[in-house]
Amino acid sequence: MSVTLRPIEAKDKPEWLNLWTGPGGYIEFYKSLEKITPEISENTFSRFLDPKEPVYSVVAIDDSTGKIIGFANYLLHRNTWTIEDALYLNDLFVSSDSRLKGTGRKLIEYIYSEADKYKCKKCYWSTQFENHRAQLLYTKVGVKSGFLLYRRPD
Ligand code: ACO
Ligand code: ACO
Repeated sequence: MSVTLRPIEAKDKPEWLNLWTGPGGYIEFYKSLEKITPEISENTFSRFLDPKEPVYSVVAIDDSTGKIIGFANYLLHRNTWTIEDALYLNDLFVSSDSRLKGTGRKLIEYIYSEADKYKCKKCYWSTQFENHRAQLLYTKVGVKSGFLLYRRPD
């Protein structure tokens, strides 16, 4: 499958929103549709396009249809251990009928090239313990950090 990756653009909003909160999309995968209000989605999409915001998205386009089949959303942030920012891959998604054809790997390779471009010494992400499918990819392209992730209780 021939796939093109490029930074998200304003015209991508309907297709991106469909993969984000639409049926079979990323937020549904996380069973979190009640948390992600339309206001949050609007805000997130606007930040991708705002050069003052350290919030980015890359989309994967199936060259045979011109449709967006996946995305990776990522953030740059300060880090006390480096002068340079760190890159955090917040969200990675490939639509179910386009999986296992190398798009997820390509999106991560794009993220690595962004980390190089912004001189980020640290490029990282987290995933759920039970997300074995994603980990089949992650063990090939990354290493386990050795850290546990905690959060404030709800
Ligand atoms: N059985 C065997 N191998 C598998 C399987 C499987 N079920 N799934 C993946 N793999 C392996 C493949 O062999 C492949 O390795 P290769 O590159 O050496 O051939 C790799 O893992 C899959 O690579 P891709 O085809 O590049 O990945 P894909 O396009 O299928 O996308 C993704 C993977 C993004 C995890 C997709 O399944 C998805 O969107 N899942 C739902 C949402 C999700 O889990 N997102 C990640 C959450 S974590 C985060 O956001 C940071
Ligand atoms: N045996 C039993 N219980 C222990 C032990 C021990 N050896 N050590 C800690 N605890 C328990 C205590 O019972 C206490 O529980 P309580 O509040 O119910 O009484 C709790 O764990 C420790 O609490 P504090 O006294 O508030 O913590 P402390 O002042 O000892 O600081 C810290 C803990 C920060 C982890 C310290 O040990 C430290 O600096 N360690 C080295 C650096 C480190 O590991 N930092 C954290 C790295 S992760 C990160 O930075 C996000």
